[in-house]
Amino acid sequence: MDRTFVMVKPDGVARGLTGHIVSRFEEKGFKLAAAKLMQLDRMVAEEHYDHLRSKVFFDELVDFITSGPVFAMVLEGKDAVKNARSLIGATNPSDALPGTIRGDYAIDVASNIIHGSDSEDNAEREINLYFH
Ligand code: PPS
Repeated sequence: MDRTFVMVKPDGVARGLTGHIVSRFEEKGFKLAAAKLMQLDRMVAEEHYDHLRSKVFFDELVDFITSGPVFAMVLEGKDAVKNARSLIGATNPSDALPGTIRGDYAIDVASNIIHGSDSEDNAEREINLYFH
């Protein structure tokens, strides 16, 4: 079965959206294969976002993702990476369509409530980083 990695970011957890977001994936047809609430340390956060080290927002992103608990998940389903990204919506909530998670619950790219792997290779890399 295809699988992907999805994480409710600290703003989503703090706003009490975790259960709702899990339901959105289950309603779509995904199976929750693993999940945990966890506090990221900077080393894990920097490894996760290693490809963004050159971005001006890198430090802000690491500060944000380590600012409170996140809810990490492995989701299983057909074309899991693609289907999860469709449900999550565009990275910038201003571009995310209503009906997507970011389109419905976020307004700012720096706190866009959820992360989803963008390729099958990254899904495996991120699953191994968070669930080992
Ligand atoms: S890229 O490479 O610039 O196109 O990056 P992008 O795919 O748009 O975004 C990658 C992740 O960086 C987060 N992001 C930001 N964080 C803080 N401030 C700003 N300005 C910002 N812009 C993008 C974005 O939410 C993405 O996080 P993930 O967790 O991968 O969805």
